[in-house]
Amino acid sequence: MKRAKIVATGKWLPERVLTNIDLEGIIETSDEWITTRTGIKERRIAPADMAASDMAYLAVKDIVKNEPIDLIIVSTSTPDTIFPSTACRLSEKLGLSNCACFDLSAACTGFSYALECGRRFIETGGSKCGLIIASEATSKFINWKDRSTCVLFGDGAGAVLLKPVEKGGIIGSYFNTNGKLGEILKIPAGGSKMPASAETVEKNLHTIQMDGPEVFKYAVLAMSEAIERILSANSLSSADISLFIPHQANLRIINLLSKRLKIPEEKMFVNLDRYGNMMSASQPIALDEAIKSKRIKEGDLILMVAVGGGFTYSSTLIEL
Ligand code: UT7
Repeated sequence: MKRAKIVATGKWLPERVLTNIDLEGIIETSDEWITTRTGIKERRIAPADMAASDMAYLAVKDIVKNEPIDLIIVSTSTPDTIFPSTACRLSEKLGLSNCACFDLSAACTGFSYALECGRRFIETGGSKCGLIIASEATSKFINWKDRSTCVLFGDGAGAVLLKPVEKGGIIGSYFNTNGKLGEILKIPAGGSKMPASAETVEKNLHTIQMDGPEVFKYAVLAMSEAIERILSANSLSSADISLFIPHQANLRIINLLSKRLKIPEEKMFVNLDRYGNMMSASQPIALDEAIKSKRIKEGDLILMVAVGGGFTYSSTLIEL
């Protein structure tokens, strides 16, 4: 059986930068509070007329040229529309035909699920060239009056191109879920449980609602479990890993993870200071930056770990 290798990466971030100082003028907060509680200094905000598929297009346009793309999977919790999928919209923008397209929803862990699906398409011969994307227009689902959430999130899109190889590539993944914790991080309205109405809009129920301290607690435990499980399943220790790419929600979570698992902080990739939490787009954007800044190179082992609404959590082991 072939292996699936990441042969190219891409990303796109909106030009508009919203700093903590800017937020001080919008809500009752301070640069000092946001920096010390989260590590975030600024985030990017997409233009009002830009949808997730537009951002995805800009992230992939340079890596798809002349490639025979036969699969598009878009991870997003902020899709253009409930249907058609963001992946279908993207295929139209790219002028593709003969291509399987679907969206995948697993909140902040969505990219790892999308990558795993892409890997299985490639390994079983169902795809020869797959485009795996995470695109999140989080700013469209934020209550800009809720200081406990609006300071945390940002917009962005990241992507990888997968092709079959003989060895290396994506080695394995670990996934787990705790559905009992579904209520601590959610967008309550706009689905079949609570369809859109004047009342849901008035009450801001189409925006992200989070019990921050509860999510914080489980995020540390869940990501610790995901790292430990994948290392032990592959008979590896953290010393074998060149770089860890944790979900970019809060620097305190990442530092606690380092401490608990005795992983040196410099082995943890961090870019949340510049972008905030971009939900599932955080992982491919971090991967692209780590590769392009030469922090990691061909042959290195990297471990991506994520946690998000659901409660979902995952880890992915990759030989670059
Ligand atoms: O992507 C999915 C994963 N998401 C996460 O992993 C997020 C996990 N949670 C967190 O990162 C943290 O819980 C937060 C950053 C969201 C909040 O930090 P915290 O240290 O847990 O603060 P808290 O929610 O316990 O709030 C402490 C205080 C409260 O005031 P009182 O009640 O003590 O007077 C809040 O009202 O901080 C207040 N507060 C703020 N103050 C200034 C909350 N947000 C702000 C703000 N600026 N933006």
